[in-house]
Amino acid sequence: MAVSLVILTTPDDSPMRRELSVAPGTSILKAAHAGGVDVTATCGGRGRCTSCRVKFVAGTIPPPTIMDEIQLGDDLVREGYRLSCQCAVTEAITVQLAPPLEEQAFQILGAGPGVAGLGMRIDAGIVKELVKVSLPREEHHQTSDLEQLAAAVGVAPETVAPSVLVGLPQALRDDPSGVTVTTFSGARAGRSVIAVERGDTTAMKFGLAIDVGTTSVVTTLIELESGEQLASISSLNPQAVFGGDLMSRIAFAQFNPTNLRKLHTRIVGLLNQHVAEVCRASGVLPQWIYKAVVVGNTCMHHLLLGIDPSHVGLAPYAPVMRHAAVLAAREVPLKIAPEARVCLLPLVAGFVGADAVAVALATRLADSPALRIAVDIGTNGEVLLGSRERLLACSAPAGPALEGAQIRHGMRGAQGAIDRVTIDGDVRVHTIGETPALGICGSGLIDLLAGLLDARVIDWTGLIRVEARDSLPPALRDRVTMRGEERVFTVLRPGEAGARGEIVLTQDDVRQVQLAKGAIASGIAMLLHVAAVPLERVDELMLAGVFGNYLSIPSAIRIGLIPALPLPRVRYVGNAASLGAQLCLLSEAERGRAEGVAARIEHVSLAAHPDFEQLFVDAMNFPRGSA
Ligand code: FES
Repeated sequence: MAVSLVILTTPDDSPMRRELSVAPGTSILKAAHAGGVDVTATCGGRGRCTSCRVKFVAGTIPPPTIMDEIQLGDDLVREGYRLSCQCAVTEAITVQLAPPLEEQAFQILGAGPGVAGLGMRIDAGIVKELVKVSLPREEHHQTSDLEQLAAAVGVAPETVAPSVLVGLPQALRDDPSGVTVTTFSGARAGRSVIAVERGDTTAMKFGLAIDVGTTSVVTTLIELESGEQLASISSLNPQAVFGGDLMSRIAFAQFNPTNLRKLHTRIVGLLNQHVAEVCRASGVLPQWIYKAVVVGNTCMHHLLLGIDPSHVGLAPYAPVMRHAAVLAAREVPLKIAPEARVCLLPLVAGFVGADAVAVALATRLADSPALRIAVDIGTNGEVLLGSRERLLACSAPAGPALEGAQIRHGMRGAQGAIDRVTIDGDVRVHTIGETPALGICGSGLIDLLAGLLDARVIDWTGLIRVEARDSLPPALRDRVTMRGEERVFTVLRPGEAGARGEIVLTQDDVRQVQLAKGAIASGIAMLLHVAAVPLERVDELMLAGVFGNYLSIPSAIRIGLIPALPLPRVRYVGNAASLGAQLCLLSEAERGRAEGVAARIEHVSLAAHPDFEQLFVDAMNFPRGSA
């Protein structure tokens, strides 16, 4: 017989209440998702994070599982918190959702550097012209509105998208000054009419560059004549509720059409919110957006199109499709001009998708005689190595730890996040916005680990050296403790740097960062190994990705996230995937080139390579340095 599960969803005095009827034995997380209640499950329900924690408000609190104890720690367990993915409903209970630590709000970003300086001629393929159409006047005129329009524009009637016809009669008759006809001529497609508007709107011509990352989604609104960025917005990928990394998300969707649909509608819904926000911020009407270019890894690409990614998650990890696709916005559906062209760049193989192609394009990796590495740091990072001779790429599944997830006091790079740490006898921190510390983000974690390695608080295997604490300066010694079975370094005590509660780094946090940096470092090592080139021959290493821009290069080298190249040979290149999308938005020639670049990239499958395991184990450890 079903039992009652009440979920309180807002942590204030008047919480929202959802009552669900649940089969006994169902986990709270599963029941919540089935009932349409968003509970974030960063690790996909494997008991490896804390995002799904709930607090018992009524009913018997079950004894903690081992995962509750490991992830939540003694204090939270005592206060009645449990991991909802590990806790089955057996009787009527009421639970309160824990608020996520990170901010969920949209962030409207300032205009980035854009594509200026990349030596590109703007030709987005979108042309708008004011046309006077002579309408049929006599009954014996054997013609139609469509034929008259097509003749005036100089195209065949079949090239006019059918949905344009809906408003055509009115548009043709409403304004004596004529109609504005928008056409698209693609890298491979002929000229077609994609919009007809009454009056003169020729000056209004906009496009979107969209980077769908596993954790973050960035949408940039661009004026298609000048290339000027008008607004850019970034927010969390809402699919993360169903799993922080690709494998958990694939597992959620695997052979389950309902869950696949959830993932699809989440991302489409977010993109439409982005459209509304960038339009509001810039005063542009959505119907004036005629082209969008989307990049993302294979899984994100498939989910956006509603394609089942099940087989991408199973050996031999084959994508369902790889070619560059062009759709009408109404097919996605994206709420811009209904016939606007939505262009998806081609995929490479396995998880290496259109984002890697965009990075290669934006960094001009395939054009230069110099041997260069591009590292796109993200939940599903990518590493590229190449020159105009040869281009290799692999996916580096770092997981979400460097974006603050699965870390006890981790958070995204938002206001209040510790983003810089110095250790000189004691701990000094800087927070984003210089506001009281709430948690620690990826760049702060990397600084912290680099400092703790130099201070010998952590050894090269990653162990927090509790046994050796007496050899540390007093201020650091007092921060190194054993709590039950857990080794802990206290970054901030309550009150320090305005922190309301304690902010700690646990042994497990160190391991999570080791796994993440090991994935990236072993990806770099593997590409060098396959290309048979020593590190010294690498002319430049470029750090890409939203996160890559904020981390300290010396700290990244200290912890072995990137190899020890001389500092002048390492540079930030910003969000290169988004930049590649912008290039293809503004230039059909570049979009054509992207296909050539995708075809040239040799995919290196890490899992299948016999030497990978050893490389990964080596990459997990920290460089010995002075520790
Ligand atoms: S611990 Fe439950 S989803 Fe991660």
